[in-house]
Amino acid sequence: MTKSVLITGASRGLGEGLARQFAARGYKLALTARKLEDLESLTEQLRSESPQVCVRSLDVTDFDAVPGVLRECAEELGGLDIVIVNAGVAIAARGGQGMFEQMRTTIDVNLTGAIATAEAALEIFREQGKGQLVGISSIAALRGMPRQGAYCATKAGFSKYLEALRCETCNESISITELSPGYIDTELNRSLASRPFVISADKGTRIMADLIEKQVGFRYVPPWPWTLVAQFLKLLPIAMLRKF
Ligand SMILES: NC(=O)c1ccc[n+]([C@@H]2O[C@H](COP(=O)([O-])OP(=O)(O)OC[C@H]3O[C@@H](n4cnc5c(N)ncnc54)[C@H](OP(=O)(O)O)[C@@H]3O)[C@@H](O)[C@H]2O)c1
Repeated sequence: MTKSVLITGASRGLGEGLARQFAARGYKLALTARKLEDLESLTEQLRSESPQVCVRSLDVTDFDAVPGVLRECAEELGGLDIVIVNAGVAIAARGGQGMFEQMRTTIDVNLTGAIATAEAALEIFREQGKGQLVGISSIAALRGMPRQGAYCATKAGFSKYLEALRCETCNESISITELSPGYIDTELNRSLASRPFVISADKGTRIMADLIEKQVGFRYVPPWPWTLVAQFLKLLPIAMLRKF
């Protein structure tokens, strides 16, 4: 039977790349982001590959709207097999520089909005009796990197939430996948001075789609070299971490 996948933040970057990957694999798609125009032009390109595409404008910080939008997509596509919680923003801001509002937006999108999306997806999965929730965290979840305090906090928080879900759903037909990318070339990170081991969005989203289809519990993306690098990052003393 044709599977369906809903992606938040599908208008560009990794979300767009994942939409292209799953369209090419014959999935029905539900694409959401704030800017409907961007989603509609992407939809035109994907219609020849995907059997059905539905689009919805969704700002994940409109927490009350999230469950209704996911439910509408589930009804239109005849259920949701996979929900990818991908929408995210990043700011570069040192602590104590008057950037609290930008930090709060980052928390609203990456943590509260992500959890709102995941909670809405889980309700649908429990009604269906099955489903796969995919959360996009980051290697930034591993440590508090300078100028990325709020971003790291959101990714660490979301990662722990996903870990708790993996424990809670182990006796259900619901699978939880956490993908933790290193550096994949998108607008989110193009202004950074250094992007170690950066890979293209096409390669990154192909790896991510493969891992999602395998229903892995947790993987760094790409797994090599980040699985090894992550172990060093965890041990790095502050004197070295502060140079990042
Ligand atoms: N690229 C990397 O190397 C990398 C590494 C680690 C983790 N990640 C994570 O991967 C995810 C995708 O990042 P990306 O690199 O693809 O970033 P991106 O190119 O900047 O795309 C971000 C997407 O999120 C959407 N978005 C932003 N704010 C939103 C909101 N309030 N509500 C709904 N959608 C919103 C944007 O669409 P609209 O503006 O139209 O809403 C866009 O589609 C993020 O969670 C990011 O933290 C990326």
